[in-house]
Amino acid sequence: MRKKVTVVGAGQVGSTTAMRIAEKELADVVLIDIIDGVPLGKALDIYEAGSIEQHDCKVFGCTDQYDDARDSDIVIITAGVARKPGMSRDDLLATNMGIMRSVAKEVARVAPDSIVIVVSNPLDAMCHVAYEVTGFSKNRVMGMAGVLDSARFAAFIAMELDVSVENIQTFVLGGHGDTMVPLPRFSTVAGIPIPELLPPERIEALVDRTRKAGAEIVELLKTGSAYYAPSSAAVEMAEAILKDKKKILPCSVYLQGEYGISDLFVGVPAKLGGHGVEKIIEVKLTEEEMAALHNSALSVKKLVDDMKRLQG
Ligand code: APR
Repeated sequence: MRKKVTVVGAGQVGSTTAMRIAEKELADVVLIDIIDGVPLGKALDIYEAGSIEQHDCKVFGCTDQYDDARDSDIVIITAGVARKPGMSRDDLLATNMGIMRSVAKEVARVAPDSIVIVVSNPLDAMCHVAYEVTGFSKNRVMGMAGVLDSARFAAFIAMELDVSVENIQTFVLGGHGDTMVPLPRFSTVAGIPIPELLPPERIEALVDRTRKAGAEIVELLKTGSAYYAPSSAAVEMAEAILKDKKKILPCSVYLQGEYGISDLFVGVPAKLGGHGVEKIIEVKLTEEEMAALHNSALSVKKLVDDMKRLQG
């Protein structure tokens, strides 16, 4: 039986995600957007590349009509507005909260057994909305951030050391914002921790660039935010679930006491498999690392409190 993935939002991230899923032949794809025609056009365009790219996946588009998403295995939510230069992810809160609420309601209706991967920003806060509105168990709602932040950190290390990015494993914890916590001592090149290879001031510069990596792309693009790497990251998570890989990836997950954090979505390493988040991996952090993680969790909490105020 074929797997089915619905991607909500047929903008830059959503359409690229749909294309990657089809080209990796992971599942049939349903692409949904509120804009008339766009999801249908993009879905058809992706499908028409099938004979060249040699994939056999069906790709459908529909406008604000969720019945085609019925019984999806995974729903990836990218609906919302993207940042413009000078904006932080948090500036998107009020608009994207409303969009996420309406999307999550439909997802719960048509695909009550699905696993939801949230991509819309501000990421960790949007996971809360999806979790609350769908009513899904915590293993079935997660956010894509850590995979992207780790990939960006890896890219910067590869450029700095002029080594293959395939040699690099990185580790980033925390919320998907300026307070994220890249952890150099758990980041390695061919198994060698980067503090053995780079002086502290260069590591700090790479960590800083990683924290601001999303803004760097926004400043360059001027009309929107990143989508090639974000879609790759979302698809890596979807693939781990669809193939029941038991892959440990940094994801925004609902914490209930892990790392001393409760009732918040925050980025930590998690094992992804057929049941979604199958295990949260707790590593022993230094006092300083733990303080940075808690500081990051605090900024997520602030957004969650802001959302409560916005809802009255
Ligand atoms: N239902 C479905 N789609 C919606 C809805 C809705 N209620 N509201 C908006 N959309 C669609 C828009 O019509 C648009 O096509 O979401 C799409 C968003 O696409 P882009 O503007 O191209 O934004 P994108 O770059 O894809 O980013 C989407 O992901 O990375 C995050 O911060 C980013 O929150 C943003 C999201």
